[in-house]
Amino acid sequence: MKSFWDTLPKPFFVLAPLADVTDPAYRALIAECGKPDVTYTEFVSADGLFHMREKKGIPDEENPLVRDLQYTEGERPILAQFFTSNPETMEYAARYALLHGFDGVDINMGCPDASIEKQGAGAAHIKNPEQACEIIAAAIRGTEGKIPVSVKTRLGYNKIEYQEWLPHLLDSGISALTIHMRTRKEMSKVKAHWELGKEIVSFCRDRNREVFIIGNGDIASVEEGRTLACEQGWDGLMLGRAIFGNPWVFTGRTSEELSISERLTSLLSLAQRFDALRPKKHYAILKKHFKAFVNGFDGAAELRARLMETNNLSELEACLNEFR
Ligand SMILES: Cc1cc2nc3c(=O)[nH]c(=O)nc-3n(C[C@H](O)[C@H](O)[C@H](O)COP(=O)(O)O)c2cc1C
Repeated sequence: MKSFWDTLPKPFFVLAPLADVTDPAYRALIAECGKPDVTYTEFVSADGLFHMREKKGIPDEENPLVRDLQYTEGERPILAQFFTSNPETMEYAARYALLHGFDGVDINMGCPDASIEKQGAGAAHIKNPEQACEIIAAAIRGTEGKIPVSVKTRLGYNKIEYQEWLPHLLDSGISALTIHMRTRKEMSKVKAHWELGKEIVSFCRDRNREVFIIGNGDIASVEEGRTLACEQGWDGLMLGRAIFGNPWVFTGRTSEELSISERLTSLLSLAQRFDALRPKKHYAILKKHFKAFVNGFDGAAELRARLMETNNLSELEACLNEFR
């Protein structure tokens, strides 16, 4: 199917899903500072969405999963990412995404977290390709073919086995495939296998020329991504941890180029947006960002230590105002 994927520049740049980091607060800030070509939500449990809305009847304004799926118009094109091993809840979640204006649905088939794999989801799909294809088919049913379905996965489970694993995905009717260039076993402990980039891109193209192929893993900047695309032929590159402390990363600016004032003003703006999320997120989650935003200048360590002692937005505002 033709979709927004066909309208993107080459190479295009994608904001990775990062649970409890690229929440609606940080996504909205990134969209304002320097929009990626495509945005993914952090992953959301399709089972959880179904049960909270349909079984428990929790109103959307009190549902943390619905909160995590909030977005602003400035983030388009935006994809909702889901995980599950249950085709019924995947179909439900995909329909939710369609009805709530998402531009696409992405399925997580790479998460190594034990709590996700225990459910047969995330990277566990790599061990069960038939089930993976059922989940993709369910997502396509849920979207009624009106918005594209994509998958984000890894090179294999215990070993590099992309020749066996990826064909299942490439033949399944998806529009785009993101490959995190590590195996499940490697977690994030080794360097991403970019030495395999060229052969993987050509393997995917030989199998299915229609699927957009996106590379992911350790890319520190847009410039680095452009070099990879140029040398290896990727359609797009996905950046994850590079956005820590740098909502301008998609403009090509590196963290080193940011002034102290830009760092602190954007942290404050993030904190204000975070505080406005409903239902509220625990303040401790925001603290993940402090180290990334508050470093590399005189007094950063002291300020960071003081920020870590804060318990809410007004304490954080007071702390930052005192410093400036
Ligand atoms: C804190 C954190 C949360 C993550 N959450 C998700 C997620 O919700 N869905 C997903 O597909 N991958 C998730 N990932 C994996 C990233 O999307 C990405 O594949 C990985 O970090 C490698 O890319 P990078 O080196 O550019 O960060 C997460 C990674 C981190 C560090």
